[in-house]
Amino acid sequence: MTDAGVLRTLLAPRKTLFGVGAVEKVAEEAKQLGGKKVLIVTDETVMKLKIVDKVRDPLTSDGFEVDIWDKVEPEPTMPVAESLTKYVRKKQYDSVVGVGGGSSLDMAKVASLMRKNQGDFKDYVGGVPLVSRGIPILAVPTTSGTGSEATATLVVTHKEMKTGITHPYIMPDTALVDPALTLSLPQRVTANTGMDALSHAIEAYMSQKNNTFADAVALQSMRLIADNLRLAYAQGTNIEARANMSMGSMLGGLSIANSSTCGGHALAYGFAVMKQLPHGFTCATALPFIMEYNLLAIPERLADVADALGEDTTGLHPREAAFAAVNAVARLNNDLGIPLSLEELDIKHDEIPLMADETMRIGRLLSVNPRSMNKDEAVGVFERMWHGFE
Ligand SMILES: [Fe+2]
Repeated sequence: MTDAGVLRTLLAPRKTLFGVGAVEKVAEEAKQLGGKKVLIVTDETVMKLKIVDKVRDPLTSDGFEVDIWDKVEPEPTMPVAESLTKYVRKKQYDSVVGVGGGSSLDMAKVASLMRKNQGDFKDYVGGVPLVSRGIPILAVPTTSGTGSEATATLVVTHKEMKTGITHPYIMPDTALVDPALTLSLPQRVTANTGMDALSHAIEAYMSQKNNTFADAVALQSMRLIADNLRLAYAQGTNIEARANMSMGSMLGGLSIANSSTCGGHALAYGFAVMKQLPHGFTCATALPFIMEYNLLAIPERLADVADALGEDTTGLHPREAAFAAVNAVARLNNDLGIPLSLEELDIKHDEIPLMADETMRIGRLLSVNPRSMNKDEAVGVFERMWHGFE
């Protein structure tokens, strides 16, 4: 890897407040971004748990006019984005606050863009260039996984496929990362989202778009997640583990914002929509298998991953160390109750060609995977995933 001769744009939120109590600063931060009309974009669970109050109350008591759009669904589809587009155009909102998991933060990005850009959202997903920056985005994550508070990407399901927009305009202006908001996350969500974050860091490190900046944050993300995810899962109220996961997740987001995901997310998208499984869960399932597949091409980089995951690689050949990284991820999945094979997920063996077809549609991620993958090879990886690790 070299950065010589390559002009890079390094992206991050303009400002990040990290730590317990960060959410209390929301009004102060919104004030700095200008205007008085704020739209909060969130989902039912965040409403029910009253987490949304922690954002709305400081804003209203500071004189902001606040509306809440709480119709975000898990793995949001095009109709959800379209109905939000209609809503956000009804009023001259000055800024948008996304509160929730990746779906809510991504939909806040939709609201920001569509308040300032004319026409249909799906045209922009289809490649029509954005005309202008949206209204300012404040991102308040309540999970530690997607890292969407630190990415310039939004994902939406369209025509049975995960697609979206990646553009510097949708990097949040302000990220308010408050680990206390993740204390009530159920165990299953902690596991799935935590493994999504680890997938971001490891895939960004494997991606052909890797670079010094993304590598640095990816490796630190891996260390934090390897050291803290089991504890956050086993003891959800442990604020230290939660804080380290929030940081690990944000760094994972930064790593993909400046590099990219690659084959793991492409494989995951290959069966997530078809089987209606949560994003993080499918990424977790695919992760050790894409690492194993990529091992031929990048043994040294996977040996670095083994180190970051805390494996003892002293005296090991890079190839052996790389296998230690694959096994470390498989063990972590096992500890978190994530299946080690597709067979355990009740996926039928004869569905493999279909899943491989779906994966081949994710060309933007396959094109940066360090080892090329054609349909037959995708079938091969799914075969391996179906049987799983012993
Ligand atoms: Fe992801």
